[in-house]
Amino acid sequence: MTDIAADLTEERRTTDFDDLVHTGPDTLAGRYLRSMWQPVYHGVDLVAGQAKPLKILGQRFTLYRGETGTPHLIDPDCRHRGTTLSAGHVEGDAIRCFYHGWKYDCDGQCIEQPPEQSRFAGKVRLRSYPVREYLGLIFAYLGDGKPPEFPLHPEFAHFDGLLEIDSYQRRCNYFQNLDNALDHCHLGFVHGSAAATVGDVLGRSIKVKESDWGVTLTFSRESDGKLFVSQFGMPNMLQLATLPVDPEIGWLESIFWWVPIDDESHLQFSLHRVPATGDTAKRAHERRQARRQEIDLAHQDIAEEILGGRMRLADVDPKRCDVIRLQDDVALVGQGRIVDRRHDLLGTSDVGVAMVRRTWQRELRAFAGGRPQKAWRKTPAVRPAVWGLGADPNQATDTAAAPQIVDVRPFVEIGVQMKELGVAFAEPGGR
Ligand code: FES
Ligand SMILES: [Fe+2]
Repeated sequence: MTDIAADLTEERRTTDFDDLVHTGPDTLAGRYLRSMWQPVYHGVDLVAGQAKPLKILGQRFTLYRGETGTPHLIDPDCRHRGTTLSAGHVEGDAIRCFYHGWKYDCDGQCIEQPPEQSRFAGKVRLRSYPVREYLGLIFAYLGDGKPPEFPLHPEFAHFDGLLEIDSYQRRCNYFQNLDNALDHCHLGFVHGSAAATVGDVLGRSIKVKESDWGVTLTFSRESDGKLFVSQFGMPNMLQLATLPVDPEIGWLESIFWWVPIDDESHLQFSLHRVPATGDTAKRAHERRQARRQEIDLAHQDIAEEILGGRMRLADVDPKRCDVIRLQDDVALVGQGRIVDRRHDLLGTSDVGVAMVRRTWQRELRAFAGGRPQKAWRKTPAVRPAVWGLGADPNQATDTAAAPQIVDVRPFVEIGVQMKELGVAFAEPGGR
């Protein structure tokens, strides 16, 4: 286990095109991620009239939902004497500081200073950030200037069925999970029986190619030549058909994002398109909700026990823990919180990992040099495929009904996330 953080000077962190892992506000990779919309929160976790602390990309914010229902994101602390605004009172679409009542509108403009004789509210402003709620998630643009066009995912927005929303936190750098998503060969070793469903995805059968959206990974099955295709979307997304998790539901088309909380922790957000209706949907929904309750062990904590040698994977009750996530925790957190990639020995099975890293480095160079970057777009050709089965994309039309949005996160996971995303306030000197 190694930690690259200690080896990197401040200068190298901000200029090194190989540094894909540090994502604070002053880092190159951090500024690149901020130049695109990122999911940052579950809409269901933000109640109208309430504010929450949020740490994302190593930066603190106050996120609140106005009494009108609109979400807003602003700098974290009051400009007066620094009390966190997440402790304040939401009034309409504005927020009032808990300490002396300075009030800010949703653009961050101070509009009231109750205790002041000579008022200078007009000169006081916090930064606010564009947000948009879409498919049950709150997306934010944390970059400078005008945000780019908001990327839509109509195949998840218009179909008859359930849209399951899930997420988890993992205690390692986000790029380790991103690498892992491009590495289908780990399935047989890490996930055992789950891999049997996917079939032979050995390294020798992988082909990679740059797409309009990112990188296309194609696996061909030796027995019948059928293809498994997953689509990586620059800079931190993946779309593919995932394993069935319900006996009545076939392959699920899914999209994932990996978003840093800080450099040693990140969130995976995911949307699953479940094209089930009527009684089938009702039964699947009930089973998924029952599973949320059943899981009462945080996979993050169990992984630490296993990596610390105090427990074995075989000792874990699979009913009480999300074992797939736990298995990936052991593999990825087991690399160290931030892996030092200079020691990697990549083989042919790592061709997807290598290509995405190279693409990132190329784009970082262009970004740093102020040159145009590739405008990544999910064109019709960018489709996943799964051994010729399921994942029917053609049901999505702009006129189809919106799916029912269903939160499927285990309740224990929600507790972990609330703690991690608000962690800056539990730390001495967190500001
Ligand atoms: S610290 Fe916010 S009003 Fe004084
Ligand atoms: Fe995995």
